[in-house]
Amino acid sequence: MKIVVGVTASIAIYKALDLVNQLRKEQHEVRVVMTAHACEFVRPLAFETMSHQPVISAMFSAQIPALEHIELAKWADVCVIAPADANIIAKVANGLADDFLSTFLLAFDGPVLFAPAMNTVMFHQDVVQKNVQRLRELGYEIIPSDSGRLACGDVGEGKLAELETLMFYIKKAVTKQSLAGVKLIITAGPTIAKLDPVRYITNYSSGKMGFSLAYGAALRGAKVVLIAGRVQRQTPVGVSRIDVETTEEMRNAIVQVLPEADGLIMAAAPADYAPEHYSEEKIKKTGDKLTLILDKNVDILKSLKPVVQPHQVLIGFAAESHKLIANAQRKLSEKNLDFIVANNIAGENSAFQSDYDTAVLLFQDGHREELERQLKINLADKILDELERLRALRRDTH
Ligand code: CTP
Repeated sequence: MKIVVGVTASIAIYKALDLVNQLRKEQHEVRVVMTAHACEFVRPLAFETMSHQPVISAMFSAQIPALEHIELAKWADVCVIAPADANIIAKVANGLADDFLSTFLLAFDGPVLFAPAMNTVMFHQDVVQKNVQRLRELGYEIIPSDSGRLACGDVGEGKLAELETLMFYIKKAVTKQSLAGVKLIITAGPTIAKLDPVRYITNYSSGKMGFSLAYGAALRGAKVVLIAGRVQRQTPVGVSRIDVETTEEMRNAIVQVLPEADGLIMAAAPADYAPEHYSEEKIKKTGDKLTLILDKNVDILKSLKPVVQPHQVLIGFAAESHKLIANAQRKLSEKNLDFIVANNIAGENSAFQSDYDTAVLLFQDGHREELERQLKINLADKILDELERLRALRRDTH
């Protein structure tokens, strides 16, 4: 991706260095444009060092070719103004072009995102809010500011959005919104089976696959409800999250949301058994052995069969340590799935806890797709491509 980062005069400017650094780490090409006032906060040298490219900070300079604003506009895929001060917001809202950044923005017809950052009183001024609204109407994307303690000591809205949020919006701006208007439920992580107030049984699921799917689907514009078991993971930007503990709670949460959903991806590893009796008091260490009797939990996917609607796409996972294909094939039909992602959890290439996965996709119509070992975030994209393909097929046949 080729990105122009426009930097304006706000104390949040130091966070723009992190942004440029992160974009470079992810192999994107970055050009930084600074306003004259931004250069009073941080010298261009800092951004030159981070971006490995000369910084443009003046419209008329011996070092900058006359038509550079046009050349840069032709080069860039996306532009983000971070931090965006009240001045650049006002100028662009009114079509002014009196320096390099504002002139470049008039010449650029790709996606432009503004990440406002300023004192909360300034941010809430009618004129600033009207300018922000005008930018929205003109088709610019506004990355919401955070609330909190600002550099001036005031508390309120006006903080520059977090790095993850900036990255999410930049990527979304260049991602085809192929799941816009689609609501997906994605489950992730392990559920637990409680023994007593201090103990529970669980499994090694890390939740990485489900969280990657949620992030990928949100990037494509889907409305994602992420139902997460016990995992300590940051909620992906743009995703709403419901935390659950037990398999029963996970099922109940799904049943609540399912009627309005277009699909369910069960990437969670729900506990299959739970103690027959939960002990209200801590189980004491009385003998050399302790025998637990476990009852079978509900199989969530099987239990949903009567309520699933024909348009809803159902995707499951199979975690297998042996007979991968045979076991996955059985689960595909028993659990009423459109397709199943079979992965091996034995040996050194185990998908459990890893960032990588080697998977086989098995479909209802009998065809199979073997996917080489890859990052879960990339596998998530393949799964979402297949989900989209199935939705399109279903639309064509109805
Ligand atoms: N699953 C479910 N309800 C359960 C257990 C699993 O809906 N109680 C879902 C998982 O989220 C996954 C699929 O069923 O999408 C297969 O899960 P897996 O653990 O591989 O299989 P199980 O059905 O639990 O069977 P087994 O443990 O015997 O392999």
